[in-house]
Amino acid sequence: MYRLRIHHRQLWPFVAAGALCAAAAGCQQKMADQPSYKPLVESTFFEDGKSARDLPAGTVARGHLRVNNALYTGRTTDLADIDEQAEAVAEKSGGHSEKTPGGFDENAAFVTDFPIPVTESVIEHGRNRYMIYCVVCHDALGTGRGKIVERGYTAPPSYHIDRLRNGAVGRLFAVVSEGYGAMPSYGSQIPPEDRWAIIAYVRALQLSQHFPAEKLTDEMREQLRKAPELPTASEVLGPKEQVR
Ligand code: HEC
Repeated sequence: MYRLRIHHRQLWPFVAAGALCAAAAGCQQKMADQPSYKPLVESTFFEDGKSARDLPAGTVARGHLRVNNALYTGRTTDLADIDEQAEAVAEKSGGHSEKTPGGFDENAAFVTDFPIPVTESVIEHGRNRYMIYCVVCHDALGTGRGKIVERGYTAPPSYHIDRLRNGAVGRLFAVVSEGYGAMPSYGSQIPPEDRWAIIAYVRALQLSQHFPAEKLTDEMREQLRKAPELPTASEVLGPKEQVR
């Protein structure tokens, strides 16, 4: 039979390691047990009774510095500045400011160019996000007849109306970021880059229904010639009245 023989000289590294562990645990214990305040508890140490000190004015949480207005708001001016301007206008015009549904500010200068490069993969990502966040109300083609609208929610306008086709991309971005009338804001749910990707896809949807014939390349014409005859949006969806 095999007998395990361990000489005491072989054992001492384990004893040393054990002692080290115990010492380390001791230290760890002391650090974990040090007196400290739990968040938001009272304190008698400070005069104001708060345990935490107020943040110095202008403190920005790490990763939250947003200096690029175009990217984060779709507007060229700071929203705070815009509010001041609107107030000044309102004062002059006897209290009427130009705010539209839900306080959406139409006075603000909207950016007309995308602040991110619009590539095929960005549009594809936008389509993916659109199908998650927007399709339920705006439908896959953007005509404003999504499932929720079928069940009685306020019907949004079609993306294909002239006003929305000709409007600035920054305005579309601001609608999604801030909310607009009956439409809730998606600013806190969708990161800004994804919101821009969605707007790029909305633009692609708009173009899909109003592509200028003179811009069709020979290749595109050939593709169209080969494509099966597709029904138009209104043939598929029927008039709006029937849907509701
Ligand atoms: C819960 C339903 C709902 C969802 C989801 C929704 N919308 Fe809307 N949207 C609306 C309604 C309702 C309106 C019309 C608001 C009004 O005029 O009061 C609207 C209006 C709009 C408009 C036009 C604003 C104008 O100037 O008339 C745009 C652009 C728009 N939505 C984009 C989006 C995008 C992009 C998404 C996805 C990120 C989205 N919406 C998600 C309901 C929704």
